[in-house]
Amino acid sequence: MTKQQGFVLWMTGLSGAGKTTIALELLDQLAGRNLRLERLDGDVVRESLTRDLGFSKEDRTKNIERITFVAKLLSRNGVGCVCSFISPYQSIRDDVRANTTNFLEVFVDAPLDVVIDRDVKGLYKKALAGEIPNFTGISDPFEAPENPDIHVRTDKQTVEESAAFIIGELEKRGLIPVAELA
Ligand code: ADX
Repeated sequence: MTKQQGFVLWMTGLSGAGKTTIALELLDQLAGRNLRLERLDGDVVRESLTRDLGFSKEDRTKNIERITFVAKLLSRNGVGCVCSFISPYQSIRDDVRANTTNFLEVFVDAPLDVVIDRDVKGLYKKALAGEIPNFTGISDPFEAPENPDIHVRTDKQTVEESAAFIIGELEKRGLIPVAELA
């Protein structure tokens, strides 16, 4: 059986696209497989490591740079990092790729009108009313991945399907051992 490799599963997408939900589902589906995994998530990291940062291009860049530092250390030591950050700029995501081990860009894709409709956190309503400046997709850019390693459509697939698909891609690439049949 092949050993687990260190990797960085980098989920990028609009707020409300499903990055965190899929990350949690992934960890759930992988529970019991005896893997070393760590989750890094925008809403969590922004309350600790990057709590001094806002949402200007400069601050978003700093946010991702600090996370890259952590993901670099973990991934080179055999840990699988499941990262969920809007990370709206392609050049920054390319920098993460260049600085980490076994980086996979995962586009968690849902059309803007769908995430506005979902508005899980009520942020789109506020952003559309002009109450949140620099809001991704409304008053700030999101550069969709040009050539993602993995693409999931959360308006068409269930959370369970998206997570299972991503796990299959990790297995296919030899980053985690293939699940044994029960
Ligand atoms: S990133 O652009 O720097 O990668 P990150 O993923 O860490 O963003 O944080 C995004 C989260 O911050 C969103 O899910 C949302 O809850 C919150 N947020 C608050 N203000 C904004 C904003 N102006 N644009 C996007 N997200 C925001």
